[in-house]
Amino acid sequence: MDLSEQIDKRRIPKHVAMIMDGNGRWAQRKGGERIFGHRNGVESVRQVVEAAGELGVEYLTLYAFSTENWKRPRKEIDGLMNLLTNTIANETKKLNENNVRLLVIGNITDLPNSVQKHLAQSVNSLSVNTGLKLVLALSYSGRWEITDVVKRMCLDAKSGKLDPDQIDSCLVESYLATSSMPDPELLIRTSGERRISNFLLWQLAYTELYFTPVLWPDYRKEHFYEAIIDYQRRERRFGKVSEKSRVFTNNS
Ligand code: IPE
Ligand code: IPE
Ligand code: MG
Repeated sequence: MDLSEQIDKRRIPKHVAMIMDGNGRWAQRKGGERIFGHRNGVESVRQVVEAAGELGVEYLTLYAFSTENWKRPRKEIDGLMNLLTNTIANETKKLNENNVRLLVIGNITDLPNSVQKHLAQSVNSLSVNTGLKLVLALSYSGRWEITDVVKRMCLDAKSGKLDPDQIDSCLVESYLATSSMPDPELLIRTSGERRISNFLLWQLAYTELYFTPVLWPDYRKEHFYEAIIDYQRRERRFGKVSEKSRVFTNNS
């Protein structure tokens, strides 16, 4: 049976976040340079965007470049930025055909002008679409985001727009880069690493974590289906007692 048939279509997560990891190791195993791995990761992005769209996921957030990734060798960063520009330019038509909207989170002004320009054009031309919202995290980190929130809240407090007594978690959320999105129900990380690496630190508070040894350039639709099936077997409790044990307690 096709794996996708095992998925309960009524319980699709609204927001799936992904840490696309393992490109360098994939390239190394093939005897190529790291950028060879990044290039081959583009097909994996196509596959998850298609799979998520077909399943009816509303938001797919992909960690494409972290704040800390700026510390990589210049050659790799330049290669990644070129790849980003070319991929956005080449894929926008296909994204449009698939009714995908594009959103970007991160410190965008850190990106080279050409990347910013292509991103803005693509975001704009896809803005009327109503299907999957593809969120690219670029020059992003959770600590950068939270620091930025604190800064903007302080400025608003200083100018009298914000009363510190009114600050609660809802208000903090309204300042996040993801303020228009639900928190991810599921986080997938490839390549066998089991860490968050400064991804959506606030938003992942109650997210289900799924780790797979598959390296990003090998990642295909079936791997995405496996993660959704695994997620659907879990019970999310949000600090409360289990639904099952509540039934048990009530009956006893
Ligand atoms: C993920 O693959 C892509 C980015 C972080 C941009 P890596 O480049 O981190 O690959 P590994 O972890 O070194 O194998
Ligand atoms: C996380 O992967 C960042 C992205 C996938 C963009 P890294 O490869 O940078 O993370 P670490 O260094 O293994 O924690
Ligand atoms: Mg890595």
